[in-house]
Amino acid sequence: MGYIDLHCHILPGIDDGSPDMETSLGLAKAAVENGIEYALLTPHHMNGRYVNHRNDVLRYTSEFKRKLEENNIPLKVFPGQEVRINGDLLEAIDNDDILYADEDNTYMMLEFPSEDVPAYTEKMIFQIISRGITPVIVHPERNTAIINDPTKLERLLNSGCLTQITASSYVGTFGKTVQEFTERLIAAGQGVTFASDAHALAKRDYELDQAYKKMSKEFGVDKAREYQDNAKAIINGEPVQMYWKPIKKKKRFWLF
Ligand SMILES: [Fe+2]
Repeated sequence: MGYIDLHCHILPGIDDGSPDMETSLGLAKAAVENGIEYALLTPHHMNGRYVNHRNDVLRYTSEFKRKLEENNIPLKVFPGQEVRINGDLLEAIDNDDILYADEDNTYMMLEFPSEDVPAYTEKMIFQIISRGITPVIVHPERNTAIINDPTKLERLLNSGCLTQITASSYVGTFGKTVQEFTERLIAAGQGVTFASDAHALAKRDYELDQAYKKMSKEFGVDKAREYQDNAKAIINGEPVQMYWKPIKKKKRFWLF
């Protein structure tokens, strides 16, 4: 079986991802070439710039599916959203305007602002989890607040959140700092799976295969298999076990 990609912005013209259908089809081809067989389409939702309502994404996804079939691109796509944590989120959940990673509404791909974990996060996560939803925090390795203080993420893992690491972060596309922090997250068991977060920008290309190969080399094939199995469990709404430990503090943090 090919890879499952739980996070990408390849639906055309609805967020900062692919601008048009031609680019989207090119990205879908690139995904297949990278070994991806299933893709959860996750346009931004409620991030302050883009709102992509559930019903619209369902419609765009079936249109895209038709285009993929017409063009003989063997990528199987599912509707999803990358949901930004925000003050109106609980209302959106209760109004059924959210798409989950699975059909049973178990896993929500949840994003934070890139430089912040808002003060209300823990309280809101508690509310989300008490509705039977498990947040999958996307790209925690690129959040500067978490990089500076990993306990911010650890508190959320304690509450039952999972994480999705961007493949390109691990491969090094976002630079050394992000790459090193990604390696520390993985070593501490604080990652659950990889996804592309493909955006039609050179920096966020498909590097899922590269990430899984690197992981097999550095952490063993079983770890890479576990990450792939977890992606499958998430899209199927099945349980995912996460065994993690706190991140070791770097010595230089203590020099002052
Ligand atoms: Fe994204």
